Amino acid sequence: MLEVEQKVIDELRQGEAYEGIQGEGLHAEKRFYIESYGCQMNFSDSEIIASILQTSGFGSTRNVDQADLILLNTCSIREKAEQTIRKRLTEFKKIKKQNPGLLIGILGCMAERLKSKLLEEEKLVDIVVGPDAYRTLPGLIEEAETGTKAVNVLLSREETYADISPVRINSNGINAFVSIMRGCNNMCAFCVVPFTRGRERSRDNISIINECKDLFQRGFKEVTLLGQNVDSYYWVDPITNHAVDFAMLLEQVALISPNMRVRFSTSHPKDITEKVLQTMKSYHNICKYIHLPVQSGSTRILQLMNRTYTREWYLAKVKRIKEIMPDCAISSDIIAGFCTEDDQDHLDTLDVMRISMYEYSYMFAYSERPGTLAAKRYKDDVPEEVKKKRLEEIVSLQNKLSFESNLKDIGKKVEVLIEGDSKKSNLQWMGRNSQYKVVVFDKSDSSLQPGDYAWVEVTDCTQGTLLGKLVS
Ligand code: 5AD
Ligand code: SF4
Repeated sequence: MLEVEQKVIDELRQGEAYEGIQGEGLHAEKRFYIESYGCQMNFSDSEIIASILQTSGFGSTRNVDQADLILLNTCSIREKAEQTIRKRLTEFKKIKKQNPGLLIGILGCMAERLKSKLLEEEKLVDIVVGPDAYRTLPGLIEEAETGTKAVNVLLSREETYADISPVRINSNGINAFVSIMRGCNNMCAFCVVPFTRGRERSRDNISIINECKDLFQRGFKEVTLLGQNVDSYYWVDPITNHAVDFAMLLEQVALISPNMRVRFSTSHPKDITEKVLQTMKSYHNICKYIHLPVQSGSTRILQLMNRTYTREWYLAKVKRIKEIMPDCAISSDIIAGFCTEDDQDHLDTLDVMRISMYEYSYMFAYSERPGTLAAKRYKDDVPEEVKKKRLEEIVSLQNKLSFESNLKDIGKKVEVLIEGDSKKSNLQWMGRNSQYKVVVFDKSDSSLQPGDYAWVEVTDCTQGTLLGKLVS
């Protein structure tokens, strides 16, 4: 299987409903089942949805056959993502035939994009709820129970779900995701997100700090601050008028405890500031890893994409990151075959990848999305087989770069946060270093357990993993 296919599958990995909630009150007998698709933000939203349903009395189940309510939290980013969800909905329709009382709800980006189309034209679902309307879900379920089709796809300029304490679904108890902002104002020409997730808004910093403190007290050791564009985080306290930017927020979270790691995602290259980089450098527990999507290495294509930077500007940013933090890992998102992309543009992308020496990349073939600037302005004129070939070249270069980066780590001592047993053997631990690299090593010290930090000397590597031995 192509690496890129694996990545797409990973991206679309199914979430599961968590166990152990007993419903109370109005909906005590009802159980929901939820699956999540797409980005981390969606998985984080599902934890908010679970909390809202729990508060209104629903129980939950991991077994779809036991559910009274099936929820799909969906992604619209590429056509393939939507196809996967449609297929799943058809499967659920079959279950519904056997159990007519069963309700099916579609949430998230695809709900927002297609609105009531899924209800009316295709009769695939009973409930449609956009990303800013989750608070109304219990009411919509009641409506649907009476046989009315229930829809709320209103986008909001304020909603951040700040006061809702997410229920940690499928958590390993060590890493948690904390949403700090929602929406996106960037209008990249290829992207559907500004239409499905609305305008950018930041969550108040006190609620973020409290959520992170609470996670640490409950034993979590790593928080990832999430947003479509975290570097444009900006919160002004309505009482004191005191403003908090992303660098300040990062510092406040890092100060909770030196034993809790802090990560963040995603950064737009135009928005990540010198102040953020200096803050990262100042705190050992802020991980030295930046996801800095380039999308294309050609200035002409970047302009068409409305990315607002040139190839040179991007490379200068990468250089500055490495000057300030020579050990900082950088990853990227890359799109192959955007409208009008020619061979030279593609070579420019490969060249930027080589210069930036990405540790990882998420790589995609361009998929035209209805309603986006690109769909309105440009023809999707790169043939599918050319997109595929370019994507394969991008993937194979990335594989080489990842391996080279790992080879350079042999002989180094790295600090690893242990997450659990390695995939291959329960005699070995698996964890990650600050750069987000997977590190596997023998369990030679029986006092260690998941959630502990360990120093490991790297002795060998594969393209995706550092192998090492514990050092005292
Ligand atoms: N086609 C292909 N890839 C896309 N992405 C966003 N929109 C599209 C699209 N229409 C990619 C970008 C983005 C990542 C989350 O998904 O690389 O950074
Ligand atoms: Fe996440 Fe974007 Fe997919 Fe929406 S469209 S779920 S924001 S990846």
